[in-house]
Amino acid sequence: MDLNLTGKHALVCGGSEGIGRATAHELALLGADVTVLSRRPEAVQQVASALPRSGAQAHGWIAGDVADAVRLRSQVEALAAGKPVHILVNNTGGPPGGPAYTADSAAFVDAFNRHLIANQVLVQAVLPGMQGAGWGRIVNVVSTSVKEPIANLGVSNTIRGAVASWAKTLSAELGGHGITVNNVLPGYTRTARLEQILRDRSLATGKPEDEIARGMLATVPVARFAEASETAAAIAFLCSPAAGYISGINLPVDGGRTRSL
Ligand SMILES: NC(=O)c1ccc[n+]([C@@H]2O[C@H](COP(=O)([O-])OP(=O)(O)OC[C@H]3O[C@@H](n4cnc5c(N)ncnc54)[C@H](OP(=O)(O)O)[C@@H]3O)[C@@H](O)[C@H]2O)c1
Repeated sequence: MDLNLTGKHALVCGGSEGIGRATAHELALLGADVTVLSRRPEAVQQVASALPRSGAQAHGWIAGDVADAVRLRSQVEALAAGKPVHILVNNTGGPPGGPAYTADSAAFVDAFNRHLIANQVLVQAVLPGMQGAGWGRIVNVVSTSVKEPIANLGVSNTIRGAVASWAKTLSAELGGHGITVNNVLPGYTRTARLEQILRDRSLATGKPEDEIARGMLATVPVARFAEASETAAAIAFLCSPAAGYISGINLPVDGGRTRSL
């Protein structure tokens, strides 16, 4: 199986923590040059400098904000002009929780901008390089809510569905250029995001966090939370040469929690 990414340049967004940081690590282990993007310059710089490297591998970082589409476009166009990007991992923090019916319309617009518009800007900025190489991998980190809406994540459920439809459309448009487009749907994964969800649910219900965690785990057949490295491994596989015939899918990495087929 060909997992070798030597000579490929990957841009991993939301890469300073959690699933993004773990993905940057896995892609570097497979030989890619990795550029890590997220808002906090010290954090991304630290992640980039700690990535595994061998031979001529060169890693880098960008302090960028997916909420600022204009600046994001110019930053990533400049990156790709210097060194074409062959692998794009679209990822950022999830929208705040709460029911859909109480959410302000501004919350939907904000989440749409951070998740869908940012992804679109990033794809457009790297696409000339992928088309020039006749090879590309786009992986979007979304959520199992694409298949089954999650209670109390009204805005997120709504926007994730839009991202999944956008990605499926792109996969049909770009397949002829040797570019695959897939979504990875994390289940409960041990990151800052999971800690925030536990805190929010504890505050909303008055129950202790460990009780909330036990309730969540009761819905997971493998009976544990995922490590970020396990989600990252699935993303890295979809980025590999071996995964060239997989496109347009939604891949849950959720320990079997999603009940639909
Ligand atoms: N963990 C789970 O259990 C779980 C389950 C289902 C879905 N997901 C989804 O998977 C994605 C990643 O989750 P995670 O758990 O890895 O999240 P996380 O630990 O909260 O990490 C989020 C990353 O995104 C970056 N980020 C946040 N806002 C940004 C912005 N405006 N611009 C650029 N970068 C930004 C953060 O870095 P900076 O602060 O430096 O910007 C950080 O590197 C999220 O969309 C999340 O909702 C996670």
